[in-house]
Amino acid sequence: MAPKPNPCGKGRAIAIRTDIAYQECLGHACHTRFDIAEPLFECPKCGDLLDARYDWSRAAMPRRLSDFEAKWAEQADPLAFSGVWRFHELLPFADRRHVVTLGEGRTILQKADKVAPYVGVEAGRLFLQYEGLNPSGSFKDNGMTAAFTHARLVGATRAVCASTGNTSAAVALYSAVDGGIPAAVLVGSGKIAYGKLAQALDFGARVIQVEGDFDTCMKRVREVAKKLGIYLMNSLNPFRIEGQKTIVYRILEGLRWEAPDWLVVPGGNLGNSSAFGKAFKELHELGLIPRMPRIAVINAAGADTLYRIVREEKIAWNGGRVDEARIAAFYQRMDAENRRARTLASAIEINRPVNLKKCLRALEWTGGTVEKVTDQEILDAKAQVGAGGFGCEPASAAGVAGARKLRAAGVIGPSDRVVCVLTGHALKDPHATVAYHTLTDAKLAEEYQAYGVRGAAHANHPVVVADDLEQIVAAIQS
Ligand code: F0G
Repeated sequence: MAPKPNPCGKGRAIAIRTDIAYQECLGHACHTRFDIAEPLFECPKCGDLLDARYDWSRAAMPRRLSDFEAKWAEQADPLAFSGVWRFHELLPFADRRHVVTLGEGRTILQKADKVAPYVGVEAGRLFLQYEGLNPSGSFKDNGMTAAFTHARLVGATRAVCASTGNTSAAVALYSAVDGGIPAAVLVGSGKIAYGKLAQALDFGARVIQVEGDFDTCMKRVREVAKKLGIYLMNSLNPFRIEGQKTIVYRILEGLRWEAPDWLVVPGGNLGNSSAFGKAFKELHELGLIPRMPRIAVINAAGADTLYRIVREEKIAWNGGRVDEARIAAFYQRMDAENRRARTLASAIEINRPVNLKKCLRALEWTGGTVEKVTDQEILDAKAQVGAGGFGCEPASAAGVAGARKLRAAGVIGPSDRVVCVLTGHALKDPHATVAYHTLTDAKLAEEYQAYGVRGAAHANHPVVVADDLEQIVAAIQS
């Protein structure tokens, strides 16, 4: 297929693997294919989500997943150094010479025996995947390296996104380093944690604070992208999903290429869960893993659209025949009741997850489930993760709190091998951490009254002493 004229960039597509890769509409009645060189973020025919797809028979594929380990020996090559592009063969849409990479994805899977009792699984069975160790401090960099690569290849000249914070930080970072694709980011007013806002400002993106929440920004950014022909960096973009698949590959690598029983992930706009499902499905179809793990997606109780759609409305992927009318009716009711998401895990304070259908597909493919946890449970789980080392931001801890809840309900078994993805670094939102550890229960309850927080069962209170040697010694020894 020859590259088509490009509405959002000036250049001709170069080095894009039109021989292997294409885009395909998810819509059951549509399934139209589009050139990989077209910068689309929704199907131009029916408006549904798009997938990046490959003709695997034309791609150079390793025979075994363990063959990827050979890349460790080639780390001087930036593509082998990157924890995303080390798996280039599994997202072969771009020629390897044109990849935009910052060395993202060098994250670790950590056996978390200190946190395992909290979750309720046996020692050696809980693993935490620290995606906060990425260059901008969240998992978004996995997707952004892929999206920026695609943007470059289609000749995009500007980028835009809506964000609860981390996407904007990652877009701003890649834009700053790339230099050729200036970025604008739309954030809701008063909805973004300082660590994330600081990054977007510092890296020089145009930060546009919109009066409204994330959903308002998401709606507007789609309009803006269309109106101005700007490249959209949200996870509607199928190449974001491609990059985020590599989190799964690294988890498998950390488990010596054996699938876990459960992969637990917080759910916001549902890009990650969609990506994880696609990664497992492709590996399974390629014969590279013998069985699929189950994916558990965890909502904050105050932002529980997915939970309600799956567990209460019982709407499912249904082999691609999603009941769109019932989803539309659900959203209509949500609007009529003026029901708005509210959680102190601001990263996942989202009403209308744009990747809902892809997530439903991932749940069906993997026999997955959905759970929801309160902000109290999130803060308590976050403190447990922190005490185990590295730490995470509140949204990430929702996964751990959700694993604990699913374990208590007997859905996850005590000897199941469980991986929780910690999506963002603890320093993204230090306010939540400092408040939890320093305030009295009464003060904390007051601070987070709107979120139903009552106290801090796992607080590590600082000790306040006078400038007095005896008191300092006593405090250390107490
Ligand atoms: N965890 C963190 C730390 C996030 O920043 C996000 C999403 C999620 C989880 C949810 O992931 O959307 O793939 O289900 N943050 C987006 C943003 C929405 O704008 O930064 P998802």
